Amino acid sequence: MLLSLVAALAVTAAASARPADQAFFGAPPPPPPPLPAPAIPLGNDSHASSFAPLLPPAIPLAVKSPYLNCWLSAGGDDGSKGYLAGSWAQHWPVHYAGSQRDHRLSWAGLIDIDGETFEFLGAPLSDAAPLLGPSKVARQTAFVYTATRSIFTFEARGVEFNATFLSPVSPNDVVRQSLPFSYLIVEVDPSALAKHAISVYTDISGEWASGEASVDLTWTYTSGSGVGTHAISRQKQLRFGEVAEQAEYGRATYATALRKGVVAGSGPADQLRKRFIHHGKLDGSHDVEYRKLDDRQPVFGFSVALSGQDPTAVFTIGHVRDPYVNYVTPDGQVNLSGAWTTRWPHYIDAISAFQSSASRALDEATRFDHTLREDARRVSGDNYAAIVELSTRQAFATFELTTGVDDDWKEDKEAVMAHLKEISSNGDMTTIDVVFPLHPILLYTNPTLLAYLLEPLLRYTHSGLYPNRWPVHDLGTYPNSTGYNRGDDEPMPVEESGNMLWMALAYFQLTGDKAWVEKHYDVFKQWTTFLTDDGLVPAEQLSTDDFAGTLANQTNLAMKAIVGIGAMAELANGIGRWTDWVHYRSVAKAYAAEWTKMAMTDAGGVRHAKLAYQDEDSWGTLYNLFGDRALNLQLFDRNLYKDQAEWYERKFEKYGLPLDSRHAWAKTDWHLFAAGSATTKEGRDSFVDSLVDFLQAGKVDAPFPDLYETPTASFPGREGFDWPIYFIARPVVGGHFALLALEKADGANGVDEDHFRE
Ligand SMILES: *[C@@H]1O[C@H](CO)[C@@H](O)[C@H](O)[C@H]1NC(C)=O
Ligand SMILES: *[C@@H]1O[C@H](CO)[C@@H](O)[C@H](O)[C@H]1NC(C)=O
Ligand SMILES: *[C@@H]1O[C@H](CO)[C@@H](O)[C@H](O)[C@H]1NC(C)=O
Ligand SMILES: *[C@@H]1O[C@H](CO)[C@@H](O)[C@H](O)[C@H]1NC(C)=O
Ligand SMILES: *[C@@H]1O[C@H](CO)[C@@H](O)[C@H](O)[C@H]1NC(C)=O
Repeated sequence: MLLSLVAALAVTAAASARPADQAFFGAPPPPPPPLPAPAIPLGNDSHASSFAPLLPPAIPLAVKSPYLNCWLSAGGDDGSKGYLAGSWAQHWPVHYAGSQRDHRLSWAGLIDIDGETFEFLGAPLSDAAPLLGPSKVARQTAFVYTATRSIFTFEARGVEFNATFLSPVSPNDVVRQSLPFSYLIVEVDPSALAKHAISVYTDISGEWASGEASVDLTWTYTSGSGVGTHAISRQKQLRFGEVAEQAEYGRATYATALRKGVVAGSGPADQLRKRFIHHGKLDGSHDVEYRKLDDRQPVFGFSVALSGQDPTAVFTIGHVRDPYVNYVTPDGQVNLSGAWTTRWPHYIDAISAFQSSASRALDEATRFDHTLREDARRVSGDNYAAIVELSTRQAFATFELTTGVDDDWKEDKEAVMAHLKEISSNGDMTTIDVVFPLHPILLYTNPTLLAYLLEPLLRYTHSGLYPNRWPVHDLGTYPNSTGYNRGDDEPMPVEESGNMLWMALAYFQLTGDKAWVEKHYDVFKQWTTFLTDDGLVPAEQLSTDDFAGTLANQTNLAMKAIVGIGAMAELANGIGRWTDWVHYRSVAKAYAAEWTKMAMTDAGGVRHAKLAYQDEDSWGTLYNLFGDRALNLQLFDRNLYKDQAEWYERKFEKYGLPLDSRHAWAKTDWHLFAAGSATTKEGRDSFVDSLVDFLQAGKVDAPFPDLYETPTASFPGREGFDWPIYFIARPVVGGHFALLALEKADGANGVDEDHFRE
């Protein structure tokens, strides 16, 4: 279908090709590669859809920013089971406790074939029957996901059509990556259009503009530059405010290209949809009775008549706001805008550019998806590809690229910063130990994005506003980067110091950016001094796994400190600070030897690392060993790698390796960090394969949860293990790219993976 889809869109593109687009997107793409073959047919029901590469717990629909984060729940007992028609899309708020209905994002799709109407997106007919007539649902025959696309194939009245949800990922283009928009592309088999009259209708509701169940809305419809745009917003804007993790300022947008046969309209949901059902098109009238979100549900849509020349309908969905975030400086809070505003000051122009470049975006996405798939398969096979493909949109949607600040602490439109939202766990802004598990995806796609994410943290440290000698834990609550000028942030001193130094060296090894190391050298040194004092024998404190509570002498945390000091040695080496190099290297080596004496035990007759120095009966997943491996520090003995690999083999549960001896739960990101220091291919594969088993068990029903129970594949607290914690749609799935980042780091550091495995 890609061939026909791309070819069809290329026609549209040629007609509207603008020279700017060429410069915008670079060279034309090679022919698109094939999609993965359906892997898991469900039962033997010939009416069932296939799902490839697998049926995920939730399917990404429009997943492009923290505030454009729309999914179709698929797993669990009452999810859609992966069928696009018949269930509404939704997003997930903080403190989610299993009630999806409250967080619906209504997005409806109908197709009219020779006067007969079928539902294919959401539940506009299923929910309203018999008011709108019999509920007819297009038969879903296939579902495929790639890194950037979710592709559903349907059949109705013998006509085949596809609905493709594309959330572009543009790691090398800050401006385009910052656009808070996503595509829905509906494509009908062109040969069917010769025989049938076919039109498509889609709408969105006010739920996209606010998380409050009953809020006063206002809306506009604008047409210009060949694009029609609905914009819906709260009447009373709450700048920088949120409800249930939705932005309460700015506007939700829904747009399409205005060509022959396209009609825009708005109205009460049942009325507008009924008009389409009866006439196969809208009549162009708009609802002007501004009212509450839940009062005769106002919806905003388009009807699009298809033809042999125009077999596709492309819709752009988005959420825009300005400013994006505010940022702490010695002169007070500064507003920062989305990076795209430097190119398109008005959002309508940004939407217009996005909408009219759909075919190029699809080409680019196809290439990106293909490259990622091939890279992932080479590194660790099809299962690994299925995991990183499902993680890509989720990870990229958790940070936003904005303008930066200049040396006078004013907004600088030329400069770039990135800001991360700790989605789901608590909404913190730019949490270091969440940037850290995310960062492998950035090393793989574009390490400069990592520098953009570290920039707000480094700037804040340089400002002198933060009083502690370790790095701040986070910068505030998204989208407020207010800092912690009293030093009263969540204390994670050893963890965050080690994380910053590890990420700094990872970035430097891939970019050779000496100027950046020089610029921040003093704060790196300050953190290293702290680690030298407090890192080998860490006092009772939290590690990044703060849900497990505090503990003294955590071996994995001490290892993070040692890796941090070792990383500092290499940063010093990289810019010719020989004295520091020799000093930190010798400290790190000495600490590694001490660590080995204190951390290892032969308890139970098998050598392994304890969880804490003082607890002989404990053990843990030593995922920070990946730092020694990926940064090529060679601080720890090869025997340690082997001992741990053998130990893990004994401790694997049905769905993976528990995080440590205290609980049965596992973290998916640390699973793949641990896989990165496996000493055999089988050892590595067992981490990867168990994550696929977890997903396929179908127990969880939300965007790639990163904390689950290894005996059951359920959320914690669900089947007799631990207590309820829902980690959903979080940035940390970027850590699933650890094996891809490792391959790249090995290339830069001249390490031979095969040699390592011997
Ligand atoms: C829909 O997608 C499938 C692949 O998933 C492809 O084989 C088919 O040709 C496509 N159909 C249309 C009408 O685009
Ligand atoms: C298909 O499923 C039905 C039950 O739904 C069963 O009776 C039948 O034997 C199955 N056929 C095959 C070939 O597995
Ligand atoms: C951000 O700060 C503003 C005040 O400047 C406040 O109104 C808003 O609720 C805060 N947002 C969040 C998510 O806490
Ligand atoms: C930030 O932006 C808002 C809205 O544009 C404006 O009212 C406010 O004064 C700005 N704050 C600063 C510090 O510039
Ligand atoms: C932590 O480890 C050190 C060194 O082995 C030991 O002296 C200390 O008692 C331990 N702390 C706790 C709380 O057990």
